[in-house]
Amino acid sequence: MKLSVPLIVAPMLRISGPDLVIASCNAGVVGAFPALNAASGAELDNWLARISRNSEESGVPYAVNVIAHGSNRRLADDLSVIVSHRSPLVIASVGSPENVVAAVKGYGGTVYSDVVSIRHARKAASIGVDGMVLLCAGAGGQTGWLNPFAFVEAVREFYDGALAVAGSITHGRQLAALELIGANFGYAGTAFIVANESMATEDYRAAIVRAVADDVFATRALTGIPTNVLRNSAAGVGITDDTEWASPEQKYDMRHIKLGKHVHSAGHGVGAVHREESCAAIVARFTEQYRVACAGEAAAAPRVSRQGT
Ligand SMILES: Cc1cc2nc3c(=O)[nH]c(=O)nc-3n(C[C@H](O)[C@H](O)[C@H](O)COP(=O)(O)O)c2cc1C
Repeated sequence: MKLSVPLIVAPMLRISGPDLVIASCNAGVVGAFPALNAASGAELDNWLARISRNSEESGVPYAVNVIAHGSNRRLADDLSVIVSHRSPLVIASVGSPENVVAAVKGYGGTVYSDVVSIRHARKAASIGVDGMVLLCAGAGGQTGWLNPFAFVEAVREFYDGALAVAGSITHGRQLAALELIGANFGYAGTAFIVANESMATEDYRAAIVRAVADDVFATRALTGIPTNVLRNSAAGVGITDDTEWASPEQKYDMRHIKLGKHVHSAGHGVGAVHREESCAAIVARFTEQYRVACAGEAAAAPRVSRQGT
């Protein structure tokens, strides 16, 4: 696939719909959305028809994200809609990607799986996914905890498929750095919450523009999986740094997640997001920063003497 920059605009609950996916693809990067953002199978069908048409015209693939865990009662139905549209890339999160691989490989589609640990990555590799999204520390939404250097290095010891890295990707030079350390794509969510084409509410956008990394903390209170949220919004629903996850029955169950509605999620990169703007403007900035980094035109770090230290 020919992209303007090696970037996937990550799927986000209650944030990414057809407008953001189409704007991403038109800007030359992979746009993605969670199937659960469509209210029903019929709406998913409409969204995919619109997105597929645009993707064929732009020549840039899109991705649809499915929650593979058993708590997602829509999985089988959503997969059959996805199969009917022959979606080019399907990203499986939470749970084994086995059923997704079986359905999507049938029509020649590509499957990536979110992973948070080496054990998880080995399992995904054994199932035959085409790529993995390494959820690293500092990611928005359900976060990983591993350091990206360690994670990429460890997975590259046994896996040569595509690797996308998620966690605080906000600058084009980070995409160049990812390629240097052995990954193929950046996977950015928080940087696109403020895009004009996202479904984020006005107060969510304003909170993102105001926040810095210190305002983010990871909580298990929503689904049992550590999720990075903005402290003020979480306090509004009684969740603080000390709140345990509510009950074992809620574990992994996305119906309990109130992200975007009451609790605002963001990754540690939130401090680098300064304004609302179009998706095209955000991608153009990533593209120019990546070009500069690849050309070695500008030093990424201030020059300091390496002598006498
Ligand atoms: C508000 C929000 C909602 C999210 N919803 C989903 C989701 O439905 N499915 C999913 O696989 N990932 C979801 N994520 C995670 C993103 O796909 C991605 O991994 C993450 O945003 C990358 O980290 P960054 O936000 O630091 O760029 C969400 C992230 C955010 C911020």
